[in-house]
Amino acid sequence: MKRHNRNVVLIGFMGSGKSDIGKRLAHMLGMEFADTDAIIEQRAGMSISEIFRTHGEAWFRELEKEVVREVASKSGLVISTGGGVPTFEENIRALRSNGLLFYLRASPITIWKRIKDAQDRPLLDVSDRFSRILELLERREAFYRRADFVIQTDELSPEEVASQITAWVDSLPDDARSVPVCLDGRTYHILIGKGLCECMPNILNAAGLKEPFVLLTDECVARAQLHRPQRAFEVRGIPLSTVSLPSGEATKSFESAMRLYDALIEFGMTRDGTLIAFGGGVITDLGGFVAATYMRGISLVNAPTTLLGQVDAAIGGKVAVDHPRAKNLIGCFYQPKLVIADVETIHTLPERAYREGLAEVIKYGVIADASLFDTIKRNIDALNERDLPTLSEIVARCCEIKARIVERDEHERGGERSLLNYGHTFGHAIEAATGYSKLLHGEAVAIGMIAASRMACILGVCSQDVLDEQLELLKKAGLPTSLSEAGVTDISPERIYEAMALDKKRRGRMLRFILPTEIGSAFMTSEPIPDEVVMEAIASVL
Ligand SMILES: NC(=O)c1ccc[n+]([C@@H]2O[C@H](COP(=O)([O-])OP(=O)(O)OC[C@H]3O[C@@H](n4cnc5c(N)ncnc54)[C@H](O)[C@@H]3O)[C@@H](O)[C@H]2O)c1
Ligand SMILES: [Zn+2]
Repeated sequence: MKRHNRNVVLIGFMGSGKSDIGKRLAHMLGMEFADTDAIIEQRAGMSISEIFRTHGEAWFRELEKEVVREVASKSGLVISTGGGVPTFEENIRALRSNGLLFYLRASPITIWKRIKDAQDRPLLDVSDRFSRILELLERREAFYRRADFVIQTDELSPEEVASQITAWVDSLPDDARSVPVCLDGRTYHILIGKGLCECMPNILNAAGLKEPFVLLTDECVARAQLHRPQRAFEVRGIPLSTVSLPSGEATKSFESAMRLYDALIEFGMTRDGTLIAFGGGVITDLGGFVAATYMRGISLVNAPTTLLGQVDAAIGGKVAVDHPRAKNLIGCFYQPKLVIADVETIHTLPERAYREGLAEVIKYGVIADASLFDTIKRNIDALNERDLPTLSEIVARCCEIKARIVERDEHERGGERSLLNYGHTFGHAIEAATGYSKLLHGEAVAIGMIAASRMACILGVCSQDVLDEQLELLKKAGLPTSLSEAGVTDISPERIYEAMALDKKRRGRMLRFILPTEIGSAFMTSEPIPDEVVMEAIASVL
């Protein structure tokens, strides 16, 4: 049996089966079991209800924090936690520092059925228990979702839940992390860490994915990384068929899709089988498109090998091929069943491709998370050296941001998902005006972020500091912040403006810009922006 140093922590609402499942798990994993509520009762010498009556909730929470700190500092434990534990940041932080967190999720009805007659539940001491459950769940769900894994337990027996958790724990290297993407009935996990390629067959098994397995990749990735998953499948005696297509955007085409359909037929791919897209955004977009359409949909696993793929393209379910007239024109939304982001693959990524990924990473900081921006700033040297633990942390935080946005606005209807397009309105125009040849996408986005920030300054929605902070960080990340820095000196601002106008015409709607208000916060414009302002912003990045 594999030895587990990390704790396995169960969180969730009362009635989600944490204690029962925790005991089973401890037995299955050969670990000790600890129950924070039981420890608290023992220490206080009275039941939880009595503690609430005698000392009040605040006193209970303090004791709870103390107990959480204690158990979290040990290792090799299965820890079952009280329902309110995750609502305190310090509890989550302590438990996560040496533990993998599992949220045992259940619908309000299931919870109500399980605890409608239960005693000793001080928070449910009301006449209408169901409404109280709804109210508490609504308040706590966001905290619970910060777990590494979300296990929907309604239809599962306690043994099944325990086996699922055991499979995850057994399949993952000790320092791997996970970010759940919670979508009704289609929840999936983004696994992040090093050495995940070597564990791929076990991970697929833990996620319930089935043979036949077909892996799609491109020729550069095949040369640099394919031996790793291939060897892992070989060692476990599981057949893996592979398809390798030429590297580059041109591969995101109908012709490639046809080649892949042909290969799937030849390999005997069935509706139960799994397509693994192992590569950058080109491969995950194409693989996703084919997985969505072959036999009306087969299981898709994204295993992104570029930084851009790990923080962006592989998550969220946008899949597409290009049309000769426009990029990403033919596609749909199709979520993967699992994302495996092995940060070790980033080591063989060409320098410029790595740096363009950093542009998107910095973008996340600017639009959504000032503390991420700060972490990037403090760790820029480590990032420039592609230090693996730093990369794991940064990738995980970007994934969290994207996951939360996708959960709230899966089909980009409400505008929130559009925030991810920060720097992209200018960026796309710069790419088009330079014939898609001189700049990589991420480089154009870096310049686009500066143009958008300049626009925000002109309009008075952000201060010069916000612009300067980005300039400094992008430069330190080796990214261009103007066209001349990128070696492009022969482009007029009008050309870029025209490219933008063409884009507007094609989409048939007003041009919208994502503008920062401060580091960590941005919004989408709703009013038309005067031409002179757009031109001035463009002129500032020539
Ligand atoms: N679906 C989405 O939400 C989404 C989001 C952003 C971008 N995209 C799409 O992603 C594509 C760009 O993705 P990308 O930047 O990952 O490009 P890419 O897939 O073309 O990869 C970049 C280059 O790096 C090589 N490569 C990849 N991983 C490697 C590794 N580990 N070692 C060595 N070489 C490696 C590839 O062969 C390729 O030549 C675009 O088509 C874009 O439209 C999609
Ligand atoms: Zn982008």
